[in-house]
Amino acid sequence: MKILYIGSGFVGACSAAVSADSGQEVLVYDIDERKIEMLGSGDRDKIKNCLYEEGLGDLLVRNQERIEFTTNYKKVEKFLDDCDAVLMCLPTPEIGETGESDLKYYFAAAEQLSKSLLRRNKGKQKKYIVIINKSTVPIDMVNRTEEMMNKAGVKNYGVVSNPEFLVEGKAIQGSLHPDRVVIGAWKKEDFEIVRQLYQRFYNSTSVKYIEVNPKEAAAGKLLANYYLFNKLAVCYDVIGRTCETFSDLTFENIRTILTNDPRIGSWGLYNSLYAGGSCFIKDARSLSHQLQIAGQNAVLINETYLANKRQLELFLSRTEKEVGFDWQDKKVTLLGLAFKQDTNDIRNTPSVDIVNFLLDKQVKEINCYDLAATEWFKKVFPESNIIKYFNNELAAINSAEVIIIATDWPQFRELADSLLQKKERPIIMDGRRMLQHRYDDLQKAGFDIIAVGSPFIKGSK
Ligand SMILES: NC(=O)c1ccc[n+]([C@@H]2O[C@H](COP(=O)([O-])OP(=O)(O)OC[C@H]3O[C@@H](n4cnc5c(N)ncnc54)[C@H](O)[C@@H]3O)[C@@H](O)[C@H]2O)c1
Repeated sequence: MKILYIGSGFVGACSAAVSADSGQEVLVYDIDERKIEMLGSGDRDKIKNCLYEEGLGDLLVRNQERIEFTTNYKKVEKFLDDCDAVLMCLPTPEIGETGESDLKYYFAAAEQLSKSLLRRNKGKQKKYIVIINKSTVPIDMVNRTEEMMNKAGVKNYGVVSNPEFLVEGKAIQGSLHPDRVVIGAWKKEDFEIVRQLYQRFYNSTSVKYIEVNPKEAAAGKLLANYYLFNKLAVCYDVIGRTCETFSDLTFENIRTILTNDPRIGSWGLYNSLYAGGSCFIKDARSLSHQLQIAGQNAVLINETYLANKRQLELFLSRTEKEVGFDWQDKKVTLLGLAFKQDTNDIRNTPSVDIVNFLLDKQVKEINCYDLAATEWFKKVFPESNIIKYFNNELAAINSAEVIIIATDWPQFRELADSLLQKKERPIIMDGRRMLQHRYDDLQKAGFDIIAVGSPFIKGSK
């Protein structure tokens, strides 16, 4: 099959790489020249620099003959002549703090597409083509896309909803071996075309292939993300807070009690300073917005959003409240800039809010380190007299008065020995409980520790 991808971000690039690996002929179009240049370079390092996803470079290099990246729309027009499916992988962020999905990227791409679809087959539009929404969109989006295409005079097409469930950091693994593939369509012929496209999943016994209508598919994605987001909020704002409030409750022990109930499960029961990333927040907000427009209240969804915000604010305020610490003119080290491990994505990362908080408090230095996201973070906060970037965590913690751990990169777990060897005793703010297995040693050596899910741990020297 010939497949066109519009949008080459985490979803588009990873899904396109898997399509090419399944034997499809794939063209990927994006307006971002740098991204297209890097992803199409055939160079694993450049690909990783662009999208830090394990296995993406290997797949793209291995399938080079079947996948092309372009910013040239003329190529797209030519490709559309006998193209079977167009996968829409465009961003759908929130408009301000309204909850409403910003569909301008989607509609800009769809409008351009509609004009090219009209010109297919010398204007005869002979070949049937399916437009597949992979973006996370409002529940009635397929109807809106159809309206737009019909108004433009596009014929011989179908619109399908195929929400993406990949997890950043494991996107390739997740796209090669998804738990489920969800296809929402109104027409039988659309289901059939998509079955061909996803033959490897349709025929697989380990993948749940779910066919529903397009509204159910879109709603299922929003609800799944809300459910997961809510689990995180419960973990931080209820379970974590309980452990912070009462003495002698170790978060990990409480976690063990809870997760051994299969009805509770273990996903999401890791305490953290914030649930960031590009999806959970905006998808929960979009669901809330759609419910409220329809006249419902969305109190629980809104409270989940607020609980997440509250978590970061409470965490950052603890140093002043519990230690009486004055941030002014202090040297602070920030470990972790990506919103979580295994990604260079900084969308909604708590580290942006942390840096803004520290600047507000007029600290002297913010010494930052991240394994993958530094280049992207520098675009938000260029290097300056105050903000500095380091190549490893040990250099970054030198002379720190406070160390904030914001990302769960596994190597941060090994930091305790280096800290114990130092003369200085910076306050440790562990936003991920990365040093939990060494809190006792660190406390005995005189470190004050403020950790999510623990009451204040006063250094004993
Ligand atoms: N990132 C995830 O983990 C994830 C998971 C599931 C679903 N989703 C959803 O998938 C969608 C895409 O997410 P993403 O993370 O890949 O976004 P992204 O921002 O990484 O990528 C989107 C790409 O679209 C490109 N683009 C914008 N306008 C364009 C246009 N007119 N023509 C061509 N390209 C254009 C951008 O340059 C960008 O490269 C969103 O709706 C998101 O909610 C994301």
